[in-house]
Amino acid sequence: MKILVTGGLGFIGSNFCRYLITKHSNYEIANIDKIGIDANLTNLQDLEKEKRYRFIKGDICNSQLINKIVKQVNVIVNIAAETHVDRSIANPTTFIQNNTLGTFAILEALRKHNDNIRLIQVSTDEIYGEIEEGSFKENDRSKPSNPYSASKAAADMFVMAYHKTYGLDVAITRCTNNYGPYQIPEKLIPKTIIRALKNLRVPIYGSGKNVRDWIYVQDHCEAIDFVLRKGVSGEIYNISAENELPNIEVARKILDLLDKPEDLITFVEDRPGHDIRYSLNSSKIKSKLGWKPKSSFEEALDATVNWYVRNEWWWKPLATEEILHPTPWKVTDVQ
Ligand SMILES: NC(=O)c1ccc[n+]([C@@H]2O[C@H](COP(=O)([O-])OP(=O)(O)OC[C@H]3O[C@@H](n4cnc5c(N)ncnc54)[C@H](O)[C@@H]3O)[C@@H](O)[C@H]2O)c1
Repeated sequence: MKILVTGGLGFIGSNFCRYLITKHSNYEIANIDKIGIDANLTNLQDLEKEKRYRFIKGDICNSQLINKIVKQVNVIVNIAAETHVDRSIANPTTFIQNNTLGTFAILEALRKHNDNIRLIQVSTDEIYGEIEEGSFKENDRSKPSNPYSASKAAADMFVMAYHKTYGLDVAITRCTNNYGPYQIPEKLIPKTIIRALKNLRVPIYGSGKNVRDWIYVQDHCEAIDFVLRKGVSGEIYNISAENELPNIEVARKILDLLDKPEDLITFVEDRPGHDIRYSLNSSKIKSKLGWKPKSSFEEALDATVNWYVRNEWWWKPLATEEILHPTPWKVTDVQ
């Protein structure tokens, strides 16, 4: 099995490449990444000597390059994307270019060289938008709230359209919020850990009541692997571990694990279009493909906190002024 992973130098991509190499001794992995701002060559330095792994520096929007590479693989797992919601609000164009047009370039290459190459499109729960009660199922309609989720929803639609129109072998995964090793310091869990370790105030958007459904990155990787091997063409699979928590609770748990005072938590001005709650129903992947998450939130959060405590060498060069210095945010008095 020859697999092209796109965006393999990012958080989920690097965990996924390592997962595949460790789990399947007969898989060969090519990882294409443009080395964007969230990419990190050190994420996969442990695979540098692995004969079944190779890295290609390149952009998925480069049709010439993609046309050449797709002919050499059996499966493409498209993980590459611009992923930072705040940056998408500041500069939406980059998100349409990378997330929508990047996926489009892959689809076009597959259309031209269609030789039973399978595409697994790694998408997100954010394409459904927020939900106050209940959980989204795969056939619920997309209602994205910000340019990031809109660019991912548009990519999903192209993937399904290419399946229907040209018969491409595709499957889409939509996962909830991931946490675990190698996640960049800007994201909620690493930012909270790092700032708490430095005894700096921990910023929480708005009132902290926004709910996210958390999954350990290893469980997400395994779910993608299930869809890659067993998923039915043309189907969408929601992935969640049913760990719904308000952001404030996540921050409290981290402070507790690090033995830091709760009053480090500081409420800051909310982000525009901040969805109140995400929730997925993932019974389809469980009943049809037999996947289920293995990690409990408590254990995996503890493992994640320990990983950041032990691996300052990894995150220190990535920690920006905003992460390492006091209160660059607009503090509010929400209680
Ligand atoms: N992080 C989450 O909680 C989460 C949850 C659900 C789904 N997802 C999806 O998983 C994917 C990966 O998320 P992540 O958190 O690992 O992101 P990340 O930002 O850590 O990694 C993305 C990687 O993609 C690369 N990339 C971006 N555009 C590219 C392009 N045009 N060509 C080649 N490489 C490119 C970047 O350099 C980076 O290495 C995204 O598609 C995201 O929508 C993420």
